Amino acid sequence: MEKIIKAVCGAETVEDSLFYFLYNNCSEQRRIRASKFYRKEDAYRSLIAESLLMYCLNHEGIAGDVNICIDSETGKPFLENSSLHFNITHSGDWVGCVIDDSETGIDIEKIREMDKGIANRFFSDSEKKMLFGCNNKERFNDLFFKMWVLKESYIKAIGKGLSCPLNSFSVLPYDNHKIDLVLHKETLPHKYFRLYDISSTYKCAICSSDEKLPDSVDIMSVEDLVELIRNKENN
Ligand SMILES: CC(C)(COP(=O)(O)OP(=O)(O)OC[C@H]1O[C@@H](n2cnc3c(N)ncnc32)[C@H](O)[C@@H]1OP(=O)(O)O)[C@@H](O)C(=O)NCCC(=O)NCCS
Repeated sequence: MEKIIKAVCGAETVEDSLFYFLYNNCSEQRRIRASKFYRKEDAYRSLIAESLLMYCLNHEGIAGDVNICIDSETGKPFLENSSLHFNITHSGDWVGCVIDDSETGIDIEKIREMDKGIANRFFSDSEKKMLFGCNNKERFNDLFFKMWVLKESYIKAIGKGLSCPLNSFSVLPYDNHKIDLVLHKETLPHKYFRLYDISSTYKCAICSSDEKLPDSVDIMSVEDLVELIRNKENN
């Protein structure tokens, strides 16, 4: 199958009519999860995430009542009785989703001010060498978040979460778009990466078992998503 990579923007500004449409559109499990969030924006992102995933699966011809299970060891969600793999991410104004026929991970993060101390905690020696070569704060923060989303997409693809030490592998993004993965532990699997420009203030990365990755992310607004779901329901 063609990989599906879609992202929804506008998730930071809760629109009540869209919120309740999505709430009613989601599984009971997701509604319960959403209602536990203190901040309405977090609930909104959670509802958008499941709605986006379900819309994409539906579009692929996968029955709407497909069951999402959670791996009890890693916490990674997966589809019951399906060979398809998926992953979702939510950060600030964005929600992203990838569907693939092999292991995959997606991460979106907002670019923020970071410093060497935080980099020292999270990154491997070769990543730090590349990062500390940045000659100004803006380039430092930009590269920091490229590395962050790449690393996070890898640990999400392999499903290990933070039980996979972040310095057990290095992901090195070069200016010519080449991205090298160096594994410092032989049990870790090889994967491929791509960074996507979805916004000037966010970074987005996909990790996949397959080298062939789409050139762009399909971007839509929350209104677009709701419209697509409504149209699907009416057909
Ligand atoms: C939970 C974790 C998998 C992702 O956390 P995150 O980046 O904060 O969150 P994201 O929005 O990108 O992803 C959340 C989604 O990942 C999925 N997920 C949860 N556990 C997962 C796992 N073990 N593997 C893959 N995906 C997982 C879920 O679908 C979740 O969304 P949902 O709760 O709405 O269903 C984990 O990697 C984590 O806690 N990371 C902390 C961030 C960090 O310190 N990163 C350092 C990078 S340098």
